[in-house]
Amino acid sequence: MLRACVTGWPVSHSRSPLIHGFWLKRYNIEGDYSLRAVPVQEAASFYGGFAASGYVGANVTVPHKEVACAAASICCAAAERLGVANTLWLEDGLLVADNTDGIGFLASLDQVVPAWSEKTECALIVGAGGASRAVIDALVQGGVERIELLNRTEARAREVAERFPGKVRAFGLDALASRLSSADLVINATSAGLAGAELSVPWDGAKDSAIVTDLTYVPLQTPFLRGAASAGLTTVDGLGMLLHQAVPGFERWFGVRPVVDAALRDIVV
Ligand code: ATR
Repeated sequence: MLRACVTGWPVSHSRSPLIHGFWLKRYNIEGDYSLRAVPVQEAASFYGGFAASGYVGANVTVPHKEVACAAASICCAAAERLGVANTLWLEDGLLVADNTDGIGFLASLDQVVPAWSEKTECALIVGAGGASRAVIDALVQGGVERIELLNRTEARAREVAERFPGKVRAFGLDALASRLSSADLVINATSAGLAGAELSVPWDGAKDSAIVTDLTYVPLQTPFLRGAASAGLTTVDGLGMLLHQAVPGFERWFGVRPVVDAALRDIVV
């Protein structure tokens, strides 16, 4: 029996078992995917000894993404660039780490708005945490020419921008109204909604053709997306990114490239 798990502390909130459990059943695979809580003080030894754990691989969630990346013998390109991993597997007994958040983000856009990349010269991202960095990395790799990063704490936006020399311009949140008018893709990567606060966005000033997405998927239609939709803009919810980031891990562990479709969305929502 092939066994994989999602690791983190805490980990009980994770929706990954729902996703992988759905695919295991759909593809009739004799495998198991479970929750594995790893206390902070045990993280280095857990990932360091992963080859002997009995798992073929794992997902990694907060706060272990950096420790897991550092414990790997081989880091794939995105994990190497970002220094954080969300997906692990074994190759010839060696731990390999990847970060699939960025490609999950791009795949989600591709699925909902296939022509988005031809239409995107300028991307505007609000929020400068870990999720934002993975998305910026993917946009840079995807060849988006202008990336503008706005953050409540402007200094943090500048720090992130410095990690992508010549690719990202940093602003404070007060620049939102002025920067919005030239954005083809607008991304909310803040946790403002989760914290019960809302970003105030003057959507009337956005391009009519702008595509708007939110990395938060609870609720699916966030106030950010609802505001954009009321202004007639195209919106992409954050659930697709969660589902698509899971694809490479499942394929590595269980040998089938799974499909993200409406049936999967329905069970995860
Ligand atoms: P993650 O790793 O999920 O991206 P994070 O590192 O905690 O989470 O980052 C949260 C982001 O949401 C930050 O950019 C934060 O802004 P600050 O850097 O100024 O803290 C942003 N954020 C959180 N609450 C916010 C709010 N009420 N208004 C605007 N931005 C907010």
